[in-house]
This record gives sequence, structure tokens and C-alpha cells, in this order.
Amino acid sequence: MAKVAVVTGSSSGIGYETSLLLARNQIKTYATMRNMSKSDGIIKIASEENLQLDVAQLDVNDDLSVNKAIDKIVKDNDRIDILVNNAGYDLFGPLEESSLEEIKQQFETNFFGVIRTTKAVIPTMRKQGNGTIINVSSVGGKVGLLPFLTAYHASKFAIEGFTESLRQELDDFNINIILIEPGYVSSSFLDNSKSAKGFDSNKSPYAKKVQQVFQGFESITAYSSHPSKVAQTILDVLNSPNPELRNPVGKDADSIFKARAELSDKEMEQWARETYMDKKGFIRQ
Ligand SMILES: NC(=O)c1ccc[n+]([C@@H]2O[C@H](COP(=O)([O-])OP(=O)(O)OC[C@H]3O[C@@H](n4cnc5c(N)ncnc54)[C@H](OP(=O)(O)O)[C@@H]3O)[C@@H](O)[C@H]2O)c1
Repeated sequence: MAKVAVVTGSSSGIGYETSLLLARNQIKTYATMRNMSKSDGIIKIASEENLQLDVAQLDVNDDLSVNKAIDKIVKDNDRIDILVNNAGYDLFGPLEESSLEEIKQQFETNFFGVIRTTKAVIPTMRKQGNGTIINVSSVGGKVGLLPFLTAYHASKFAIEGFTESLRQELDDFNINIILIEPGYVSSSFLDNSKSAKGFDSNKSPYAKKVQQVFQGFESITAYSSHPSKVAQTILDVLNSPNPELRNPVGKDADSIFKARAELSDKEMEQWARETYMDKKGFIRQ
């Protein structure tokens, strides 16, 4: 019997590539997305390649949407083997000029969205006696690299603590929870980034530094990975008999984690600052 996977945020980027790759590897895959009008492309490919891939509406911010989608998948298959918590975005802006509502929304999707879907699948995985939950965190879930991404970093740090603790809670039931930690990925992520509404580049006291960070993005994105590389890491984790908890993706992620292991907190901060001030990028020679 084919394994059953649910992937959130499959309308683009990492979620889109992961859904297709899992389906191409004989996993019955539910490519879920909040906006079904974005499903035509993936449905067309699935049909052309005769893949076991269905799309389903699932907004990770919405209890009803999550429970409806998961209940239907369980009803139709009697199981869920894999959940990939991928949906997410970043809120960009100085904290002082970001509203509490914008920050809560960031957590609603990136953190509570993961909790919502995870809670929805656990009873099924526990009863069937196995399952894998893959949380797409970020290198920024381990290291607070850049300014003006406070809520994003915090939401991903939260995922990491949540994952470490939940692993121990669910190991008796043979449910494994894994972190994927990409560096910069060339998806629609930056286009989908939300800017704090209170930030005005003509008036903000942070405008100069924001400009420096934007300019630094060029070098930061120079070592980007294609979303399919993240998808391949997810498939490798699923095929591994004993996967690692943390799975970095990309040259930049490897370099950042190496630096984090070698440098003091202050040295790390200095190095991160140099990447956007001096545009050196997150690759250490
Ligand atoms: N790109 C990077 O550099 C990078 C690096 C590290 C980690 N990540 C993480 O990777 C994940 C995927 O990002 P990506 O790079 O593939 O970016 P992306 O192309 O912008 O994809 C984000 C996906 O999340 C979906 N989404 C957002 N809010 C949602 C909600 N409330 N319910 C359901 N789906 C929702 C989007 O749907 P819509 O099309 O409807 O907006 C889209 O499908 C995110 O968690 C991100 O934090 C990305």
C-alpha cells in the first residue's frame, strides 16, 4: 500500500516541488494550498505524469479548513504517514514600526499553523503506530542572522523548540519529527514577503540600515538553492532509516552552521553584520 503524505503550502516553491517529488516516488500525496485557484499547474503535471497526487484546500491559519482537509484525507485513506509543514512567509520591518497584529499574524501562520496541522494528524499517526512530521524551519530558526526579521526568526526558533520537545513526547508511538533548515531558496519567498505597514522608507529612522540589508541581499542570495533541492532533502530524510533531527540545505546554510559552531556569540554577530554591511555573503572562506 502506498504511503500517504500531506504537504502544506504547495501552491509554489518548496511545497510545490516537494508534493511533485513525493508523488513521483510512489507516495500518495495531497498537495494542499489555501488558494485553490493556484492549483492548475500542479494538477496538469500530475495528470500528464499519471501521479497519485490530489490537491486539497488547506489554510493553516484556519481550524475549520485544517480539520476538514485532514478528516477527509483520513476518511479516504484510513491513514496519514507523512506531514510536511511547509507553509510560511516572512514579515520584514523594524520591530518598532511593526504592529502587534502583524507579528501575531506571522506566528499564526509560521508557528500556530504548524501546531494546528500537527495536532490534526497526531491521533491518526498514534493509532496506526507510525508517522513522520517534517517541519520546514530555516537556518534562521537556529541563528538570528538579520535585523528587521525579528518576528520571522522568532517564529522559526519557536518551531525548533516545539520540535525538540514533541519528538520526546511522541517517540513511544514511533512518530518521528524532523527539522529542515534551508539557507536562501530561490522561490517566490521574497516576492511574498510582507512589509510592516508602519515602515516608511522616507521617514523611518531605520531607513538607512534597511537599505544596507536590502543591498546585502544580493550577496546573501548568491548561493541560493533551488526549491527542488529542499524537496530532495525531504525525500532523503523519508528514505533514511535513521534521519538526523536537523537537516540544513544549501552551501550558505552549511557555512552559517559551521560559523555558529566555531564563533562566539559576539564574533557571530560581527560576521552577520559584515554580510549586509560589506556584502560579503554568508560563505566563510
Ligand atoms: N525561500 C527561502 O529562502 C526559505 C529559506 C528557509 C526557509 N524557508 C521556508 O520554506 C517554506 C516555504 O517557503 P518557499 O520558499 O517555498 O516560499 P513561497 O514560494 O512563498 O511558498 C510559501 C507557501 O506557503 C503558502 N502559505 C502562506 N500562508 C499560508 C496559509 N495561511 N495557509 C496555507 N498556505 C500558506 C503560500 O501560499 P500562497 O501561494 O497562497 O501565498 C505558498 O504556497 C516557508 O515556511 C519558509 O519560511 C524559505
